[in-house]
Amino acid sequence: MSLAKRRGFVFPSSEIYGGFGSCYDFGPLGVELKNNIKEAWWSEMIKNHNDIVGLDAAILMSPKVWQASGQLTAGFTDELVECKKCHRRFRLDEIQNSQCPDCGGELTKPKKFNLMMKTFVGPVEDEASETYLRAETCQGIYVNFKNVLQTMRLKIPFGIAQIGKAFRNEITPKDFIYRTREFEQMELQWFCEPKSAPKIFDYWKKERLNWYLNLGIKKENLRLKEVPKSELAHYAKKAVDIEYKFPFGWQEIEGIHNRGDWDLSNHSKYSGQDLKYEGSFPYIIETSAGADRSLFAFLCDAYQEVKGGRTETTKSAKEVEVVLKLARSLAPIKVAVLPLVKNEPKLVKKAKAIYETLKPYFMCQYDETGSIGRRYRRQDEVGTIFCLTIDFESLEKDDLTIRYRDSMKQKRIKIKDIKECLEKLLSKTA
Ligand code: GAP
Repeated sequence: MSLAKRRGFVFPSSEIYGGFGSCYDFGPLGVELKNNIKEAWWSEMIKNHNDIVGLDAAILMSPKVWQASGQLTAGFTDELVECKKCHRRFRLDEIQNSQCPDCGGELTKPKKFNLMMKTFVGPVEDEASETYLRAETCQGIYVNFKNVLQTMRLKIPFGIAQIGKAFRNEITPKDFIYRTREFEQMELQWFCEPKSAPKIFDYWKKERLNWYLNLGIKKENLRLKEVPKSELAHYAKKAVDIEYKFPFGWQEIEGIHNRGDWDLSNHSKYSGQDLKYEGSFPYIIETSAGADRSLFAFLCDAYQEVKGGRTETTKSAKEVEVVLKLARSLAPIKVAVLPLVKNEPKLVKKAKAIYETLKPYFMCQYDETGSIGRRYRRQDEVGTIFCLTIDFESLEKDDLTIRYRDSMKQKRIKIKDIKECLEKLLSKTA
């Protein structure tokens, strides 16, 4: 958390006003990382599959959508208890011995609490103008099922993918960006025949687990957990969670659900439109990942503290050195361009020219302040893949050294070859 704040990944929302309701802002490096995660997901879905198309539906939808989805009624509530002494509220499933976890006070009986965020559309705040911010992105996909089917001339099975914001009035938002009230989801809804649903469910379970592994998450920190029948969401026939081993324990980062015909049949009923395909409702297999939550998992997994520092050639006075071993495709900065010393105009000029040449192609940073060792460590700490150093030899030989983040190995490369070399090296995902 401290690194995320200090180095511009994540800031508390409205920080100058003391923060706001567990919302967070993504800083300059955070937005790059999140964009890279979303891009990795989008290209996996859209480019690596022939039968998946994209969608970007509105966050605000007809309130009838939320009646049909079950989210205004039974489906979308958490059970809440309140401490009679300190009046803090908790989710029932967080209580261990029927006492307040904070002050040990007596708790009230559980009450149902709806998580939908209410808002008003238009100038009059009456019941007729009431609607809700979506709590999951997928409802926008279901109500567009026929639009997409017809305009894209599709046949089932096929999928619709979407990335977007979702909102939940969580009772106990916690653990930094793990559970927040505003977050982003990356969801795929796969429409298929009921009889093929179990096989497709297993296919996506493996695919989704591999996506995290291919992006560098350590195998031992990921697991699949079958959701017991008693804990299934109101729409789900079957569900498996992908869990990541966070420093605070194993927690869900993605849910894979067999939603049966719950959504299309309910939207048919409430809208009066026929959402059947060739006379019956398709089943839906859903993969639902959190962009913020997976960003948190990628950060945790990549974060390494090395006691005494990594340098073996010189004596390091450092107690701890931090390296962020993010996958190549995810790292916010790919290349740092560093003149060996700042007060040598020829070096600075050459380094700046290289930075300007590479900037349109790679996410680059130019840095000339501090010793070269310190600058390497600053880049390691945010996961920069390569540092390019321009030294006195560069002036004579028109070359530079490229330093690899993980091995710290350095090689000399001709400046004319650097773009092609970086393209090759950065084409590897992990
Ligand atoms: N459409 C299905 C659905 O929304 P979910 O299990 O409620 O299923 C899917 O949510 C994913 O969305 C979770 O695995 C998590 O990554 C993310 N998510 C849900 N609530 C969240 C919250 N309050 N803060 C951050 N991410 C959240």
